[in-house]
Amino acid sequence: MMNKTTYVAGICLLGSMLTGCGGSNEFTPVSGMDGVDIYANACSSCHGENGSGKFGFLLKLAGSEETTDQIVGKIRNGGHIMPAFPNIDTQQAKLVADYLKSL
Ligand code: HEC
Repeated sequence: MMNKTTYVAGICLLGSMLTGCGGSNEFTPVSGMDGVDIYANACSSCHGENGSGKFGFLLKLAGSEETTDQIVGKIRNGGHIMPAFPNIDTQQAKLVADYLKSL
């Protein structure tokens, strides 16, 4: 059985292999990118294509209960492990959130 600490450390390790653990990600959308493009570039490395999750159902986003505002906040501020994306502005983050809500 994995305890919570092991689980979090494991994801963290996974995260650092992908783009770094926590902190912030420098990804900057090119103007004109829509939610799908931003997601594919900034999020799919951890959350899988089309929000389907990456490692089994881990980090699945399709069907998430989060509200648009919560998703925008997550993108802008990051999570416990997830990096923040300060260069994705609120309007762009909304496009990504709308895309995720449509899945
Ligand atoms: C480096 C890996 C990584 C990247 C890149 C990443 N995430 Fe995450 N994301 C996570 C992890 C890990 C969690 C769960 C733990 C936490 O909150 O940190 C998470 C959680 C979330 C949640 C909450 C899920 C739920 O159902 O409660 C949302 C929403 C989310 N991410 C959206 C995004 C979006 C949108 C992007 C792209 C802008 C993105 N993530 C990029 C690792 C990542």
